Amino acid sequence: MKKYRNMFLMLLLALAVLAGCGSSSFKNNKESETVGEADGLMDDEGSSLITVGFSQLGAESDWRSANTESMQQAFTEENGYNLIYKNGQQKQSNQITAIRTFIQQEVDYIVLAPATESGWETVLDEAREAQIPVIIVDRRVNASDKNLFSCWVGSDFELEGKKMAAWLKAYTETKGMAAEDIHIVNIQGNLGSSAQIGRTRGLANAARDNGWDLMAEVSGDFTETKGRETMGALLKRFDNINVVYCENDNMAIGAIDALESAGKKVGPNIDKGEILVVSFDGVNEKALEYARDKKIACIAECNPLHGPRVRALIEMIQRGQTPEKYNYVEEMIYSAIPDVSMVTVDGVVYKIEQP
Ligand code: AHR
Repeated sequence: MKKYRNMFLMLLLALAVLAGCGSSSFKNNKESETVGEADGLMDDEGSSLITVGFSQLGAESDWRSANTESMQQAFTEENGYNLIYKNGQQKQSNQITAIRTFIQQEVDYIVLAPATESGWETVLDEAREAQIPVIIVDRRVNASDKNLFSCWVGSDFELEGKKMAAWLKAYTETKGMAAEDIHIVNIQGNLGSSAQIGRTRGLANAARDNGWDLMAEVSGDFTETKGRETMGALLKRFDNINVVYCENDNMAIGAIDALESAGKKVGPNIDKGEILVVSFDGVNEKALEYARDKKIACIAECNPLHGPRVRALIEMIQRGQTPEKYNYVEEMIYSAIPDVSMVTVDGVVYKIEQP
């Protein structure tokens, strides 16, 4: 009987994973901690729950809220899990403390969404010593010993940057603009995070190859407030900016606010003095509205719905299978501007979707 009950549960889990993967609407997540007791928990029917300690890096953006919510929805008691959620408040030291607490609590799995790539070896080694599998989600860790974690799932951030650069090249060519007349500032995410490193590299390489004038790269920490401040400071330094590359939507919203407050016109008519803004994510409703109005000319999607994906990886490990080490999510690119219908990156064609 137990065998059939387990099979039935696995079927339910698989159906729930499939349903979660297709979901595309988000609500903001309230930032409370959901703390359960570690290990050995029983559900109402007396079967034991799998305890997962999730160290989230913070709550800096709408993307992050959607990501936290996706995890909380995937790891419910009904699904057979006890989720212990810890918000790292943007500090690696908090995340390291959270992981050590999870180890003490003898959780079954640790899921880490790391703030930055470096500095994880010691604590991951402690988790390995305790024989707790670690799954990395979203950004990466750059540990030289790849056996310090079981697997990773997330976005190809450099590909996102390359797609955006390809769109910018195609679009400015339709406007007949010379490469040296394209004056770009990059408002970057948290320095040292995979999302920043990949998106910055995607633009910097394209600027070098195409001869664009990449005037400045300054971090806006992925927040709307810092996006606004950073844009304000850049406007004081440069009077010829015509492209603002924002490494997420929240910073783009702040930057647009700063541009408009300074009397600038934001829009796609870069050849007529408008300032063109591009960004990443495609989660924030206001940013999507801006994209439909062409205030944000193009958004490269970064998909936050990793909860069902992480759960599927844990279920593989539970079944004694070894998941792929690196699991990439497929992502789209959105623009309401009809002039560019597709871009090609590394031989792959990406259709431009309506935001
Ligand atoms: O790591 C993913 C990035 O982190 C998202 O693009 C950004 O909005 C978030 O804060």
